[in-house]
Parts: sequence; structure tokens; C-alpha cells
Amino acid sequence: MKIAIGSDHVGLELKLTIAEFLKELGYEVDDFGPFSAERTDYPKYGKLVAQSVSSGSNDLGILICGTGVGISIAANKVKGIRAVVCSEPYSAKLSREHNNTNILAFGSRVIGSELAKMIVKEWLSASFEGGRHERRVNEIKAIEEQNLEVFEKLAK
Ligand code: RB5
Repeated sequence: MKIAIGSDHVGLELKLTIAEFLKELGYEVDDFGPFSAERTDYPKYGKLVAQSVSSGSNDLGILICGTGVGISIAANKVKGIRAVVCSEPYSAKLSREHNNTNILAFGSRVIGSELAKMIVKEWLSASFEGGRHERRVNEIKAIEEQNLEVFEKLAK
């Protein structure tokens, strides 16, 4: 399994810690930067990681900025991306099982590295349950594609 990772300058240190952690767990890591602590803009890295997941070059993605908010908003603008911001493991797990999230984001100013590792582990261990959740994810896809006909047929 290949994991894309990216951050902004605020998330850089935690990104390096999480990249090492992922390698220890046996994942292949594709680091999209940044590679220095120079001030940068989070949308650039949100976009790069999201595009690599959306295109299938990587299976899943992890994004880190100060809060996880800006970088996840940027990622969610890329077609096919369902990015979640998590500060605790329960939402991370459920976001995979129910929402089939393909990008996990968190904030280096919000959580510490040990909690971040726990969240990453829960998220990666969980998988999409399908069933009734599949219809709901398909409704999200219909909104993304602005296919209101399909959306109306699916939505209860
Ligand atoms: C950078 O100062 C900060 O705005 C960024 O890391 C992130 O928290 C944005 O959502």
C-alpha cells in the first residue's frame, strides 16, 4: 500500500515523524513535500497529495498543516477526494468505515505526535463497510459531479 504525504511549513516536523512511522509499519511512503521549513502555502501540498490519490498513483494520503483544516479543504476540491480532519481516533476509524475517506488530515498545532500516530493507525486499519454507506458516498459523488438527477434518485 502506497501512502502520499504532504504538509505545509507548520506541519513539516510532524510530517517527517509520521512518514517514519508509516515506513516502520511497512507502508511505502510518497512524500510530496515541503522539504524545508521555509514558509509556504498549504493548498499547494493539499492539491499535490490529493491529485496523486485521485489518479491512483497512491492508495491513500495524509496531510498536515497547523490545524489540518486549510489543507483538507484544498484536498477536498480535487475530484474523487474525501478528506477528513481528525483530532481523535474514533472519527478517523468511522470516516473509513462509513465515508470511505481517502485522505486523513490533522493539525500539528492541535495534536501531539503520539496521538497522531494512534489516529493514523486506526484510520489505516479500518476499511469501508459498503452497504447503506455506499449509497451515501454515491450521493456525495453525485453532488461532486453536479448530477442532480442521480442525487435525487439515490437520496432518501
Ligand atoms: C499557517 O499559519 C496556518 O494557517 C496553516 O498551517 C493551517 O493551519 C491552515 O489551515
